[in-house]
Amino acid sequence: MTLLPVPHTAIIVVAAGSGSRLDAGAPKAFVGIDSRSILRHALDGVFAASPAQVVVVAPAGYEGDAETELREAAGDRADLGRVVTGGASRQESVAAGLAALWGDVRTVLVHDAARALTPPATIDAVAAAVKSDLGVIPVLPVVDTLKKVDGDAVVGGVDRSELAAAQTPQGFPRSLLTAAYAAARESGVEYTDDAALFTAAGHRVRHIEGAARSFKITTPADLERARHLLASSPARTTVSATAGDGSAPRAHAPRVGIGTDVHAFGGDGDLWLAGLSWPGEPALSGHSDGDAVAHAIVDALLGAAGLGDIGEHFGTAHPEYAGAHAEVFLARTRELLAEAGFEIGNVSAQFQSNRPRFSGRRAEAEGVLSQALGGAPVSVTATTTDGLGFPGRAEGIAVTAIAAIFPRGVQA
Ligand code: CTP
Ligand code: MG
Repeated sequence: MTLLPVPHTAIIVVAAGSGSRLDAGAPKAFVGIDSRSILRHALDGVFAASPAQVVVVAPAGYEGDAETELREAAGDRADLGRVVTGGASRQESVAAGLAALWGDVRTVLVHDAARALTPPATIDAVAAAVKSDLGVIPVLPVVDTLKKVDGDAVVGGVDRSELAAAQTPQGFPRSLLTAAYAAARESGVEYTDDAALFTAAGHRVRHIEGAARSFKITTPADLERARHLLASSPARTTVSATAGDGSAPRAHAPRVGIGTDVHAFGGDGDLWLAGLSWPGEPALSGHSDGDAVAHAIVDALLGAAGLGDIGEHFGTAHPEYAGAHAEVFLARTRELLAEAGFEIGNVSAQFQSNRPRFSGRRAEAEGVLSQALGGAPVSVTATTTDGLGFPGRAEGIAVTAIAAIFPRGVQA
């Protein structure tokens, strides 16, 4: 029998909450997202990260169910896991987890089971950034404009650039975190998260980039979001697929998508095409600005990710996109892909039309489209159809686009 090295990192997965806001008739960790529970998904992520001791903190009475989930997620690393019983508050549950750590553990990560879709890469990045005197948390920038309110009155603004939304796992040096928990118990103060408790004990915390997928499942709408993401995620759609030699899982393979769009001339104002306005050229008709190049690109990207199509995300049921230009569509599409765990490789589009004369503004158009997609290369070409068909008769423009995308973290 081979003895595996004892890891110096532990991950405490707190799963002892009742899930009162989800209100699903069972403790939140045991509510199914798809065929797997919230806890199982969280543990799948934890075991896909670098080996660590895994302590699951379960609600009293559910220790056996937690054992089952743990054993299934751990596979042949069941030796790494154990279950302990949680307390009345999250802080008490974390304390119960801390009491179960192995002697060799130097770095502790505290992770909400409710952040079930957290990417393993985030877990590893947090663990790697912890130092003997430094805690680390993943955060996302705050995107909404924030207001101070008093009753129903808006009494001021808040500078968003000073704020960040904290996620888990939060990582700490074990000895300082254990001491900070002892001090918190002594003082009787309940902190909102582990980083707050750690800084209250006088220690420093740094932040690294979090992930959209690490959102906390709190309400029924969050559960729906998790279901939607799983239905289209790279891991799910390629879950049992392996390469011919049975080795490399296709979850890491690039994916491609195709999109086409056709718009007739006849809209109001100037033509919008390939992200640019073309003064003096006849406009295309359509729900938005009629930019068929942008729309074909959106469909190619959504298709590659298995996220449905442009009608579903931007159609007439979404009046906010009426009149919107390419940047808005493409930026939102990139966000949808990021939420599903994909980044964009490149995009290529070709339109068929006699006009506008495109070559002189090609670089400008490609720059605008590429910028809206976060810098991914976009190439656009134009062709005529030798006078044939509706493009040849100058009735409208036809576009074909293809896109290559990658599961996040795979692209070199
Ligand atoms: N948690 C815990 N022990 C508690 C309370 C919470 O282990 N006594 C865990 C939850 O299981 C969850 C995480 O802490 O993974 C974050 O808490 P939250 O999202 O608030 O979960 P719940 O407390 O279960 O939900 P609610 O507040 O809606 O009741
Ligand atoms: Mg709670």
